Amino acid sequence: MADIVFIKDLKDHVGKEVTIQGWMYNKRGSGKIHFLQLRDGSGEVQGIVFQNDVDEDTFQKADQLTMESSVKITGTVSQHPKKEDTFEIQVKDIEIVQLVEGDYPISKKEHGPAFLLDNRHLWLRSSKQVAIQRVRNTITNAIYEYLNNEGFIKIDSPILTPNACEGTTELFEVDYFDEGKAYLSQSGQLYLEAAIFAVGRAFDFGPVFRAEKSKTRRHLTEFWMMDAEAAFVKHEENMQIQENLIEFVIQKVLSTNLKDLETLERDIEALKKVKAPFIRMTHADAVKELQSMGSEITSNKDLGAEDETMLTQKYDKPIFIEKYPAEVKAFYMKRDPENENLALCSDMLAPEGFGEVIGGSEREENYDILLSRIREHKLPEKEFEWYLDLRKYGSVPHSGFGIGLERLTGWICGVKHVRETIPFPRMMGRLTP
Ligand code: 4AD
Ligand code: MG
Repeated sequence: MADIVFIKDLKDHVGKEVTIQGWMYNKRGSGKIHFLQLRDGSGEVQGIVFQNDVDEDTFQKADQLTMESSVKITGTVSQHPKKEDTFEIQVKDIEIVQLVEGDYPISKKEHGPAFLLDNRHLWLRSSKQVAIQRVRNTITNAIYEYLNNEGFIKIDSPILTPNACEGTTELFEVDYFDEGKAYLSQSGQLYLEAAIFAVGRAFDFGPVFRAEKSKTRRHLTEFWMMDAEAAFVKHEENMQIQENLIEFVIQKVLSTNLKDLETLERDIEALKKVKAPFIRMTHADAVKELQSMGSEITSNKDLGAEDETMLTQKYDKPIFIEKYPAEVKAFYMKRDPENENLALCSDMLAPEGFGEVIGGSEREENYDILLSRIREHKLPEKEFEWYLDLRKYGSVPHSGFGIGLERLTGWICGVKHVRETIPFPRMMGRLTP
């Protein structure tokens, strides 16, 4: 019996007979020879079946194999004659695990996005989609690694909550027994603020929900957010943590996923330029620059998606846009001591037209001010009592930020639409598969 090995480990088995188990994603050749293109999740390899080298039954099976059939293939590993680091298998034996009957729905020809999304459960197998999921996995692990090294510990925040964190217009409601309505969390931030009084620095990483009626390439109704929060950290240091984290994540992807980035035809030079410190620009300056580029933005408005695209196409590093008008930002943000109308916040916009990936700020730590903000925003005071308590018992300056994993993955992969960066996208008008 030959050893069962993963395709990624074939380099250690050159000249030996092995078995690999996986799926046939393509086939070439005819007559006396078949080239089977195989995938096992760890990599891809070509199996060569010569009619002269195998018994009739085995050649028959190679002939029969259809796209996406599952197989076990046994043969001798050889180095590819032309490509370095690529191996082939001279097939001796084939075991068909399941033979696909009829045509596999996804073929080499161009499919529209609606068709691909309807078949997301199958589309996930395509090489670009596999590459995106691998990069996403590296990003997640790199975020954990970086934050753990910097003294942040993971604190899981709840998904069912009694109150809003971001805008109240984007809440998903759920019936919650006798308590009435519960809401699906938009961000774990408020709970992390409670946690830092216990552990100093904390982060969470999980699904969040926005009932946003926006059909853009940047919006999902369910996405993964990493919120980080730190005691005694102020606005400037908050941005430094973010830029160092992003630089670390990109270096990790560059050292782990070069092959995947190649599959995605990602411009790697652009990623190499992402080094701290990033560009810093106030909202007021961004508005001036955008106006000079033809935008209709004014100094009291948030940046629109078009504005973000325009601005970030000009730069090859991420930009922190600081100090937005407080009226367009969330209730919990501390105001700029130099100008009460501005929030001590920053959005990190990714270059090459990708736009906002991180939102963060220093938090209001004064009880009375925070209470008045809750009232101004017409938020239910009762549900925020616990949050206000944090300003009564040992309040300290603190800051934090939230990264949207899909936006970060989209930027790093060079994929324009976030729907490709999450395994099963949830958007307006899409709930299946
Ligand atoms: O800017 P947002 O709304 O900030 C917060 O929720 C803060 N409470 C985070 C914090 O300070 N802990 O969201 C943070 C990030 C955005 O920058 C964006 O990357 C992503 O979450 N995001 C979305 N991603 C996909 N679809 C949506 N509908 C998103 N809304 C926000
Ligand atoms: Mg934001």
